[in-house]
Amino acid sequence: MSCFPKTRLRRLRATASLRRLVRESHLRVDDLIYPVFVVEGEGQKQPVNAMPGIYRYSVDTLAEEMQTVMDLNIPGIIIFGVPGFKDARASQAYAEDGVVQRAIRAVKKAFPELLVITDVCLCAYTEHGHCGIVEQGKVVNDPSLELIAATALSHARAGADMVAPSDMMDGRVGAIRELLDENGFQDIPIMSYAAKYASAFYGPFRNAAGSSPQFGDRKTYQMDPANAGEALREVEQDLAEGADIVMVKPALAYLDIIRRVKDVFQVPVAAYNVSGEYSLVKAAARENLVDERAVVMEMLTGMKRAGADIILTYFAKEVARWLREER
Ligand code: PBG
Repeated sequence: MSCFPKTRLRRLRATASLRRLVRESHLRVDDLIYPVFVVEGEGQKQPVNAMPGIYRYSVDTLAEEMQTVMDLNIPGIIIFGVPGFKDARASQAYAEDGVVQRAIRAVKKAFPELLVITDVCLCAYTEHGHCGIVEQGKVVNDPSLELIAATALSHARAGADMVAPSDMMDGRVGAIRELLDENGFQDIPIMSYAAKYASAFYGPFRNAAGSSPQFGDRKTYQMDPANAGEALREVEQDLAEGADIVMVKPALAYLDIIRRVKDVFQVPVAAYNVSGEYSLVKAAARENLVDERAVVMEMLTGMKRAGADIILTYFAKEVARWLREER
C-alpha cells in the first residue's frame, strides 16, 4: 500500500463533484417511513408537546397530512393509535372499528399507493400500559400472543400493507404469521421490531401515545441496552418465525447493532430514529445550539452507513424536502 506523499486522501475531497462521485452512503427519500399518531374524535390536530411539528390526527384530518406525505414522495407511513378507552384485554387494539382500523381504511381509500404499515402492540390499549397481558403483576408472554396476533389480523383485514409488532413478547412473529396465513393474508409482510431496547429515548412517544407503563418498566421484555449478542439472537428468532424485515430500535445509540445485524443477515434492516432522538435535536435547534438540517442529515446518513436500508423517522417530511433542494 502506498502512503504519503504518493497517497493524498484529500485529493478526492477537493470539490463537491468529486465528493459526490466517491460518496459511499446515500440517504434517499425511498428509505423513509413517516410515523403518524391517530386519535379518536373529529377535526383533531393535537400538538405533541415534546415533539415540535408532530401532531395527533383524528381519522378525518389525517387525509390532509397524507396528501403532504404523498406530494413529498415518501413511500410509507406507520400508524400508531390512541384509543378512546383502555381495558385489561386491550380490546380496542383489535376492534374492527378501532381508531387504527378506521385510519387504515381511510388512508388506503384516499391513497391506495401509499404503503400503510401498522404498529402492532397492546401498550396504548391496556389500562396498565404494558405491551402484553398482565396477570398477578407480571407481563405474561403466551396469553399475550393471541391478542397481539388478533391485532395484526384486524389491521390486515382493514387493509394494512404490512404489520410491525413492537411488543417484544417471545413468539409473536410466529403467532402473527400463522394467524395471517390461516386467514388468507400470506402476502402481508411482517416488519418486526426485532432488537428493541428498553430505552429512555421513548419518553416523548409515550407522552404522545399515552402508553407509559402504570407500574414497573419494560425491562422484562425489551432488551438491556448493554447487550449486542442477544440482538443477533432476537433477529435470528424473528427471521425463523417469518419476519421479512427486522428493525433495530432506537437507532442513534445502537448503530453498532444495525451494522452487526446487516453483516450477519442478508435481509432488509430498518432503523427507528425514535421520539427522544427527534426531541433532542428539536430542542437544541430551537435554542440555536445546532444546525438542525445539518445534524439530521448527518444522523440519518450515519444510520445508512451503519447498514440501515429503511429509516423510520419523525423528520421524514423535512428530510424529503431537503433532499429535493439538494438536487
Ligand atoms: C410500542 C412502541 C413504542 C415505540 C414504538 N412502538 C414505545 C415503547 O415501547 O414504550 C417508541 C417509538 C418512539 O419512541 O418514537 N410498544
